Amino acid sequence: MTPAVEVRNLTHYYLKGTENQVAAINNINLSVEKGETLGIIGHTGSGKSTLIAHFNGLLKPDEGEVLVDGKNIFESKETLRQSRFTLRQSRFKVGLCFQYPEYQLFEETVYKDIAFGPKNMKLPQEEIDRRVLTAAGMAGVRKENLEKSPFDLSGGEKRRAAIAGVMSMEPQVLVLDEPAAGLDPAGRRELINMIKNYRRATGCTVIIVSHSMEDIASVADRVCVLNKAEIAMLGTPKEVYTRDEELRSMGLNVPEITRIFIMLKKRGLDVPADVFTVDDAVASIRKLSERGKA
Ligand SMILES: Nc1ncnc2c1ncn2[C@@H]1O[C@H](COP(=O)(O)OP(=O)(O)OP(=O)(O)O)[C@@H](O)[C@H]1O
Ligand SMILES: [Mg+2]
Repeated sequence: MTPAVEVRNLTHYYLKGTENQVAAINNINLSVEKGETLGIIGHTGSGKSTLIAHFNGLLKPDEGEVLVDGKNIFESKETLRQSRFTLRQSRFKVGLCFQYPEYQLFEETVYKDIAFGPKNMKLPQEEIDRRVLTAAGMAGVRKENLEKSPFDLSGGEKRRAAIAGVMSMEPQVLVLDEPAAGLDPAGRRELINMIKNYRRATGCTVIIVSHSMEDIASVADRVCVLNKAEIAMLGTPKEVYTRDEELRSMGLNVPEITRIFIMLKKRGLDVPADVFTVDDAVASIRKLSERGKA
C-alpha cells in the first residue's frame, strides 16, 4: 500500500549559508502507513517541528523529498503553476495543527474559525456546515460555544476549537504538534482520548508529536525517536521503551511505571516490560498474584 506520508533523505537547514547554519533534520527516511498513529518524540531542539512542517509543504526540503500519498509535493517544476497546484492539493490532504494552536484563532465566532479551512477550499455552504458540526463534535467543542467569540472560551476549549479547525478540512493525515502541551493531567487524558476516538471514527492517519512518553505510549502504534536531527529509533512502543538507558542518554524518560517494571524484570520477576500506565501495572500485578495463589 502507498504510504500516507513518506520522506526520503530529507535534510533541512536553518540560517543556510551563514556560519551558524544548522541541519535541524539530517537525512531522514520515514514512511508513515495509512491508518496508523505515529508518535514522534525527542528532546527539545531534536527537530520534531521542523520534520512535520515538511509534511504539508510548509517548509521546503533543502535536500531529499516528501511524498504525500505517493506524490512528491514539490515535484512539478515544469511550470510554477503546476507545482503550486500540487502543493495546494497536498496541503489539503495533510492537516497540520501547530503547538499552542489557540493563538491562531482569530474569527469573530468559534463557528467561523472552524469553517475557515472548508471555506478556503471553496466548498458549498451546506458542506461547510456539515463539516463544522462534525469536526466540532469530534473535537469535543460544545454546540453552545459555536456562536461565542473564541476569546471567551477556556484554555482547553480554545485548544479543541483550534484542533476542530484542522479536522474540518477532513485531511487524510492529521498532524498534531504537542496537542496536550500546557493542559492539566485530566485535560491531557481527555485530549488523548479525543484523538483516539477521532482515529477510530475516521480511520485517518495520525501523527502526533509529544514530550510525554506516557501519552505517546497510550495512543501510538509506532514511535519515532528523534535525536540531534536524526532518527535514533523507530518501532512499537514496546520495542522503543525497553531501550530505557539509550533513551535516557537522549534526555528522554520512559514513564516511571515502565522503568519500575523493566527493573523488576531484570531482577528475574516474570512481569511484562511493556507496562506504560498505572492501569497496565495493576492488571499485571493482579495476574502475578493470581498465578502465585494457584
Ligand atoms: N527559525 C529558526 N531559525 C534558526 N534555527 C531554528 C529555527 N527553528 C528551529 N531552529 C533550530 O532547529 C533545531 C530544531 O528545532 P525544532 O523546533 O524542529 O525542534 P523540536 O524538536 O520541535 O523542539 P521543541 O521540543 O522545543 O519543540 C533546533 O536546534 C532549533 O534551535
Ligand atoms: Mg517543536
